[in-house]
Amino acid sequence: MDSFEYNSGRLCCEGVTLEQVAREVGTPVYVYSEAAIRRQVELFSESFKQVPHLICYAVKANSNLSVVRRLAQWGAGFEIVSGGELFRVLKAGGSSSKVVFDGPGKTVEEIRYALESEILFFNVESAAEAELIATTARAMGKRARVSLRTNPDVDPGTHPYISTGMKEHKFGIALEEAEALYVKLRNTPEIEVVGVTCHIGSQITQLEPYREAVESLRVFVKRLQNQGIPLRYLDFGGGLGIAYDGEEPPSASCYADLVIGATKDLGLTLILEPGRVIVGNAGVLLTRVTFIKDQGSKRFIIVDAGMNDLMRPALYGSHHQVWSVSQKKSTQIADLVGPICESSDFIARNRELPAFEPGELAAVMSAGAYGFSLSSNYNSRPRVPEVLVSGDTYEVIRRRETYDDLIRLEQP
Ligand code: LLP
Repeated sequence: MDSFEYNSGRLCCEGVTLEQVAREVGTPVYVYSEAAIRRQVELFSESFKQVPHLICYAVKANSNLSVVRRLAQWGAGFEIVSGGELFRVLKAGGSSSKVVFDGPGKTVEEIRYALESEILFFNVESAAEAELIATTARAMGKRARVSLRTNPDVDPGTHPYISTGMKEHKFGIALEEAEALYVKLRNTPEIEVVGVTCHIGSQITQLEPYREAVESLRVFVKRLQNQGIPLRYLDFGGGLGIAYDGEEPPSASCYADLVIGATKDLGLTLILEPGRVIVGNAGVLLTRVTFIKDQGSKRFIIVDAGMNDLMRPALYGSHHQVWSVSQKKSTQIADLVGPICESSDFIARNRELPAFEPGELAAVMSAGAYGFSLSSNYNSRPRVPEVLVSGDTYEVIRRRETYDDLIRLEQP
């Protein structure tokens, strides 16, 4: 995470100290490094540059308009899963011709919005969805470009809640069924079949599941091509993992070599849908210690960020490193917890943590993906601001919510 480094004993994001952000914007606050995001996008594009490809950033990982706007300026396309995400992409100046729409429960309103916006294609997850897209397109006098999201039945070796490409999951269409659906859709006038898709899960740290998935996709594409189904795109989804705590996920270039090697003779444009790997290590959640509480044999470091601000530990038991902003060297075994009335409200449990004292600042690392985007107002807590650092300056790209914001949409 070289965009977050100590400089003279003070943790900095690029050229800005986190102390300064905390002082001026308050805590808790998400802090992102623009350079880190840019580096990751460039690394990804560079790794795939020898073949026709489009990087469709998964908006759900971090949907802030300013982040999306920069990605659009740097040439990215977008993977969306809702009308709301499409709205964000368009507001941020993203090109609808670079948008792919995933998700197993698209509504007719969302389908209409995507058709009006002329997105690149829908990743269709069931025969019923294909039918709804066809009827909607017919009523609008349009033709919908679709790719079928196949389910290759591969175990991605990640947390069960973020595995998506196995038979028991709600996602995608089993290969045998997909083949029949391709044949049917070829004769549906409102549908233009353009590709084959698969996304097997998230935070994948081994190449093997990808190898299995891409091999089975390759065989499948050849079968379709032999039947004369005209395909243009192979969408291999996202899911490449990052290091939260010493994991060694494959590099973007190893991942790219594998995908390119298995697909380059198919004559298709590759679509990639990375989310976490682009923004995950480019952000931290900065929080201040409120109290230290010793309870029985346990020590709790209570901070001002709660599970509503960062859900990942409560939801998946995920590990985020916790760094001291003032580079404290001494440590203590403790739980880092928030102020929420739930025992699942923890950021770190039974960990060797810096020997924080009340008032000190902690940086919860690798929080740029699925951090703010998963946050909520639970316990009527205003959602925290987001800050984007570029070099020696920063911008508040989402202000802190106020108490008035909390009740704005309710009957007074
Ligand atoms: N494409 C599709 C169809 C997806 O469902 C996802 C993520 C992605 C791409 C991007 O995956 P990524 O490259 O970010 O792994 N909240 C969880 C992660 C949920 C992922 C959902 N789908 C977490 O915090 O770990």
